[in-house]
Amino acid sequence: MNTLQNKVAIVTGGASGIGRATARLFAAEGAAVVIADLADAADVVREIEADGGRAVAVQADVSSEADCERIVRTAVETYGGLHVLFNNAGIIRRKTALEIPVDEWDLVMAVNVRSVYLMCRFAVPAMTEGGSIVNTGSGWGLKGGGNALSYCASKAAVVNMTRALAIDHAAAGIRVNSVNPGDTMTPMLRDEARQLAEDWAVFEKDAADRPMGRAGSPEEIAAAVLFLAGDASSFVTGSTLVVDGGGLA
Ligand code: NAI
Repeated sequence: MNTLQNKVAIVTGGASGIGRATARLFAAEGAAVVIADLADAADVVREIEADGGRAVAVQADVSSEADCERIVRTAVETYGGLHVLFNNAGIIRRKTALEIPVDEWDLVMAVNVRSVYLMCRFAVPAMTEGGSIVNTGSGWGLKGGGNALSYCASKAAVVNMTRALAIDHAAAGIRVNSVNPGDTMTPMLRDEARQLAEDWAVFEKDAADRPMGRAGSPEEIAAAVLFLAGDASSFVTGSTLVVDGGGLA
């Protein structure tokens, strides 16, 4: 239980779902964790502290330059450095080109794409001992999906930004990889059913339509993120790790 001993990690979108599970796993593996989210993550911090771990919550909008700077500054000032960045905060709008208004398109791109650029801009100089950056892509960053044009665009951007970042920062000892989940049981999935006005039971059944016959759990995605974050993946950079029960296969 010491994969991330003496490491400092930032998890964006850590108040819920995949980010929450990853923040808890990182802390259990010894990291001091900065949990950044638009929502209040105080309860996640309490859970981590109750388990004997270290964490601090930063309420922040990852599409804001000033907030991204503040998230990184919090890591450095609170814990003395930065080693791991999990760019995970994201939103989805289940709309076609004919349905999505321009302001919603811009919001999806700002939260899902601009955030990765902004967080890296501040985090890379703070990773003075090298580090690992993991970006959350999606199966829909690697193939198309219906009624989700802006999301598909944003996640394809995350996948290829990951490769570009890996090339640019390898010399600084920083690895950059993407984790690409298939349908995972988080509040986002329920929100998608709501957006499409679909019955949850039907939506849940569709989410299980993959070789392994079920959707993933946030903890299963977190386990893959831990692999990419820690030294077990020391020669892995620019890669696209799919975690989807065989869905893309
Ligand atoms: P979630 O909705 O449970 O968690 C997302 C978190 O991001 C929330 O806590 C939310 O407050 C936060 N967030 C949203 N906008 C933000 C902003 N502007 N600034 C800071 N925080 C913000 O969703 P989930 O499922 O855990 O999603 C995490 C990531 O995984 C997202 O990037 C999502 O696109 C991706 N993903 C999820 C899949 C799924 O089936 N749940 C499948 C593939 C990818």
